[in-house]
Amino acid sequence: MAKQHKFFAVVVPGLERIAARELESFAAHDITIEYGGIQFSGTLELLYRVNLRARSITRVLMRLRTFRSMTLEGLGYDLKKVAWHLFFDENTTLHVEVHSHHSRLNHSDDIADFTKQYIQKLLPKLETGKKQQSQTLHIRLDNNRGVLSLDTSGERLDRRGYRLNPVKAPLRETIAAAMVQWSGWSPEQALLVPMCGSGTLAIEAASLGLNQAPNLEHDFSCLHYPSYKDKTFQKVLGKCASMQKETSLDILASDYNKAAVEACLDNAKRAKVDKAIQLERQDIHALKKPVTKHGGVLILNPPYGQRIGEEAKVLSLWVDLGNIIREQFADDTMWKTVIICPDPEHEKALKLNIKKRLKLKHGGLDVMLLEI
Ligand SMILES: C[S@@+](CC[C@H](N)C(=O)[O-])C[C@H]1O[C@@H](n2cnc3c(N)ncnc32)[C@H](O)[C@@H]1O
Repeated sequence: MAKQHKFFAVVVPGLERIAARELESFAAHDITIEYGGIQFSGTLELLYRVNLRARSITRVLMRLRTFRSMTLEGLGYDLKKVAWHLFFDENTTLHVEVHSHHSRLNHSDDIADFTKQYIQKLLPKLETGKKQQSQTLHIRLDNNRGVLSLDTSGERLDRRGYRLNPVKAPLRETIAAAMVQWSGWSPEQALLVPMCGSGTLAIEAASLGLNQAPNLEHDFSCLHYPSYKDKTFQKVLGKCASMQKETSLDILASDYNKAAVEACLDNAKRAKVDKAIQLERQDIHALKKPVTKHGGVLILNPPYGQRIGEEAKVLSLWVDLGNIIREQFADDTMWKTVIICPDPEHEKALKLNIKKRLKLKHGGLDVMLLEI
């Protein structure tokens, strides 16, 4: 049987349950939800699958060792127990990130320097090669209990690479994907995105509807470990390709801003989902619910108006949004509306009955997903 490892999926706080459901669908074991992440276990094949296919996960860490130590000497004992040669070689540039809370070992810089020097002593060739690749080791200490974890994703997974052309206040790709998943949208239904901006919601929905692995182009740091298993990775890649569907989708994206519509098209092309999205320039006040067989979802990330002087104008737009939703969507059992809302004031402006809520962090702020 292939070796089992322990992993930790880092997520935007609020997305834990959505991410846990994704992990279940990838056949992860021992799933335990924590604030801001999910512990799970499985093989290297699972690790590759999660990195390639997860939509709502920010990064995946591999747990290497837990320890209980109050001194650097004690930490050295645990560092010696890890088979570093499986992960690092002469081409590795090692970064050590330390987070210490309520622990005797609490000087993050000293712990990081000590750890790096210690691993360098164990692997004298570290950082001496020609093609350097960054690897990040995380040390977390809580009440003197520590955990050593290795980042397997490299760049954050929400940076899918298609959004070279962002507009104001774009949504993180992981949050957009999670919003679509939370809405329960299914690919035979219509999806309306009438304030599409740079298209993140529409693109993530199209990728989901086409069953496209969202991170195919990503350069995961685990692909640069000496223990990387190319055969296994190629097998998972092949599976990703065979799962992709050729189906037609009913995704209608629009925005009143010409630059946003152009950005959305550009980004959708880069994400290879442009054929799945119908795009037009339209003011939301002209929105008409389409006639559909299986109903649909209206999904919205409206402007918040955080800038001084914008609040009144934006709040009156939220009043209009409430009217549009009430008149066309709220009483139609075949339709659902999901909207990302910054605070109770904006929610009040909608004057709608909220059926479900999900609190999450977006750009450092607490925001709420509302289902109507
Ligand atoms: C917060 S942005 C959406 C960001 C988008 N989710 C993304 O990730 O790029 C809000 C969008 O609403 C659009 N918008 C504002 N008022 C509108 C209106 N009356 N009709 C249509 N679009 C509008 C803006 O042009 C902007 O692109």
